[in-house]
Amino acid sequence: MCGIVGYVGPRPSEGILLSGLARLEYRGYDSAGVAVIDGDGTLGMRKRAGKLSVLRDDLARTPLPDGTTGIGHTRWATHGGPTDANAHPHLADEGRLAVIHNGIIENFSVLKAELEAEGASFASETDTEVAAQLLAREYHAHGDDLEAAFRATVRRLEGAFTLLAMHQDHPGLVVGARRNSPLVIGLGEGENFLGSDVAAFVEHTRNALAIGQDQIVSITPEGVRVTDFDGGEVEVEPFEVTWDAAAAEKGGWPSFMAKEVSEEPEAVANTVRGRVHDGIVEIPELDGLDDLFRGIHRILVIACGTAAYAGQVGKYALEQWARVPVDVELAHEFRYRDPVLDAGTLVVSISQSGETMDTLMAVKYARERGAKTLSICNTQGATIPRESDAIVYTHAGPEVAVASTKAFVAQITALYLLALHVGRVRGVLSADASADAVAELEGVADKIAWVLAHEQERTAQLAGWMADTRSVLFLGRHVGYPIALEGALKLKEISYIHAEGFAAGELKHGPIALIEPGQPVFVIVPSPVYSAQLHDKVVSNIQEIRARGARVIVIAEEGDAAVLPFADEVLRIPLAGALFEPLLAVVPLHIFAMGLAEAKGLDVDQPRNLAKSVTVE
Ligand code: F6R
Repeated sequence: MCGIVGYVGPRPSEGILLSGLARLEYRGYDSAGVAVIDGDGTLGMRKRAGKLSVLRDDLARTPLPDGTTGIGHTRWATHGGPTDANAHPHLADEGRLAVIHNGIIENFSVLKAELEAEGASFASETDTEVAAQLLAREYHAHGDDLEAAFRATVRRLEGAFTLLAMHQDHPGLVVGARRNSPLVIGLGEGENFLGSDVAAFVEHTRNALAIGQDQIVSITPEGVRVTDFDGGEVEVEPFEVTWDAAAAEKGGWPSFMAKEVSEEPEAVANTVRGRVHDGIVEIPELDGLDDLFRGIHRILVIACGTAAYAGQVGKYALEQWARVPVDVELAHEFRYRDPVLDAGTLVVSISQSGETMDTLMAVKYARERGAKTLSICNTQGATIPRESDAIVYTHAGPEVAVASTKAFVAQITALYLLALHVGRVRGVLSADASADAVAELEGVADKIAWVLAHEQERTAQLAGWMADTRSVLFLGRHVGYPIALEGALKLKEISYIHAEGFAAGELKHGPIALIEPGQPVFVIVPSPVYSAQLHDKVVSNIQEIRARGARVIVIAEEGDAAVLPFADEVLRIPLAGALFEPLLAVVPLHIFAMGLAEAKGLDVDQPRNLAKSVTVE
């Protein structure tokens, strides 16, 4: 949460900061601000509550003087509401020093009291301003040495933070630090960048450096220096961004979400690419880990939200193909209950952003308790993979809309690849079962494309008709159950409609009381070919709700005629093996949620109260 960008170089920085912030706005969008040091060595700053466009319009009316050193911030409020005063940057040292921050400084009240006792007064309610004033104090205590003062400051901070600072006495220098929050460096020619993620600078350079935990970076036009919090030089890992700026543009689509749903086939295909050889799954990133996979007796999947639902789908595949017991747990619940962990437990975290604080803390906790950790992540250079023993990247490309869509199908795909890889290594997966699964997996992208081509328009139309609906229920069984949960989450998240997902078998244990005439219910129907028994059970469940007046919208395989007498609407998906159906059935649910939000005139990319990357606990 909160997007951060920094620039030093020969070019006017304001435009660079604003376009970087536009790409980071998914991280928070309740206020934004920039600060630049102009040619005369004067610091100028502007910040506004509201979306980035409010700041942009303000700067267009009254521009800041040109400056080639700058920092910018887009905020998701934690301490203090979304007001102009609480927006970042925060100034100190009589307006000569500017600081931006992502995260939460947990000991801010102690530090604030200390500074107040020395006579400081504060213009905002934020923890960030405390860091700014502390830095100003240390600046003078360290003979106006910004880097030394910054080191002294961050050593005093507890909690999670990415902090950037610049001082007008030091044009051409931006300092940054990170602890449990993201920060990456972009290396340009005669210019350098900092960003919460590579999206901040990918239009200028694809050469990046990932900064480790508890490290400080100083960027100047000439170079980059990374140290630990005590000033000791450290080596940092270079990497090349694998996508270009166009991948993070809307490219003519009405919203990022629409674009990203359309990219679901590619997200699956790209995640599979390079990991299947002669019909066998081999994940190169997992070379050398065979003994680990042979030695585990349990897998624990930890994640939040949509990523956790991907984990719930993956559980079925991991148990079926790798024959390891799997538990799936919400990351924020996991580490507060003294879980049983040992070296035979593989903790698999799933995170699109790789920055979700709940998941990060759970991974660290699991490692401390002796478990091995593997991260499934979509973002290069992110913190969670860096904190894990092994990484399997999903290749969904940048996901900008707050609601996760293409990353979800890529996460399921990566879990399936992992299950097939581990099953082969453990010798529990027959060659035939492996070949069948691989063939299915390789065909999924085309089947998703079929759903988009054949059902998108009708699903969106259905959503349009239902714009006044106040509540929608979703039912599924087996792998369809997490898909029902995902359908409900997506609807709540972007349409602000009450929605709940249930395991269809659970209906009669309570939720059926919710059914009244006209209640819309989506039902994900298992394949009559591959899951005949479950299929019939779900058809019975449909009859039960239909008998009570529900308006039933069925997602069923092509050719499944058994659902027709009981369904008000049928959305079709192609025939697929039982484990592969979720990757198809979720597509109409994503389209439906988006269509309904659009019909209500809502901003599908930036739903209220949310941010893409949840970097606070
Ligand atoms: C829902 C959604 C969230 C995220 C969750 C985890 O559409 O996007 O539920 O899935 O916040 O985020 P990551 O995957 O970045 O850890």
